[in-house]
Amino acid sequence: MSDDIVRYEVRDEVAFVQMNRPKKLNALSVELADALNQTWARFEADPLAKVAILSAVGRAFCAGADIAGGRPNDDWRIPWAIRVHRAYPQNGVTVFKPIIGAVHGYALGGGWALAVRGCDITIAGESAMFGFPEPRVGISIPPIDYLPYLPFKASLEFMLLAWNGGEMLDARRAHELGMVNRVVPDADLMNEAIRWAEKLKKIPPLYIKAVKYGHYKTMESKTMRDEREYLNFVWPQEVSEDSREGRHAFKEKREPRFKGR
Ligand code: COA
Repeated sequence: MSDDIVRYEVRDEVAFVQMNRPKKLNALSVELADALNQTWARFEADPLAKVAILSAVGRAFCAGADIAGGRPNDDWRIPWAIRVHRAYPQNGVTVFKPIIGAVHGYALGGGWALAVRGCDITIAGESAMFGFPEPRVGISIPPIDYLPYLPFKASLEFMLLAWNGGEMLDARRAHELGMVNRVVPDADLMNEAIRWAEKLKKIPPLYIKAVKYGHYKTMESKTMRDEREYLNFVWPQEVSEDSREGRHAFKEKREPRFKGR
């Protein structure tokens, strides 16, 4: 097996894409985010691949943005955040081929967005835990990344309370809320994803392209995709003392002390 931070292997027209940063629970460092971004471009252009399956090495799918040191020059601000957001297909690279997520263990914050928003079809292993730790570290993400995927009240609850210390959602609850398409025992996760890939392979690529284009365009138009608007309301909190304190507390393994500024 390769030790690339993102593994890419095509077998029988299926691209197996695997995040490979297990010691950090596949937290999205700039390196991992850039590698994912490049992998989506590679997959879209690959004449041998019709469907991708995104999974992860280790005990977690992805613990979200790397809040411990994955940003260049301690630059926590928008250029870093946007680079990490480009790990998701449709943000950095438009992907018209179908992507299936095979999710086990933690899928938190950016990892949740990658599993639910970044993948067209999401299969969860029973071990999957979905959460949103952003409140603890004071990171906001644009509503396009979550609101279209959840009922309004469930979205507010998820954004505010689904973190460790709050209530993460297990795979069954995520399925009830429509975040994932199927839940299977972990041992069957990859086989189930391959079963879906086999079905998707038989659908004309142009039809899939039209359906994906329609879905993503429709969602974008009814949510706040406009970057300026996003920056206006996200910026003050991205650069706040509390946001910095949340990250430092995590690094120092202590409870954060928030001051409201
Ligand atoms: N960024 C950077 N490093 C992370 C990380 C993240 N988001 N999530 C986990 N890690 C690292 C830990 O620092 C630890 O590294 P170390 O062994 O060098 O100390 C390693 O991954 C394993 O994590 P650990 O905390 O020991 O595992 P756990 O099972 O006790 O807890 C979590 C798992 C996911 C609950 C916990 O790691 C966590 O809260 N992570 C942060 C989640 C977060 O806030 N994400 C940001 C959302 S945008």
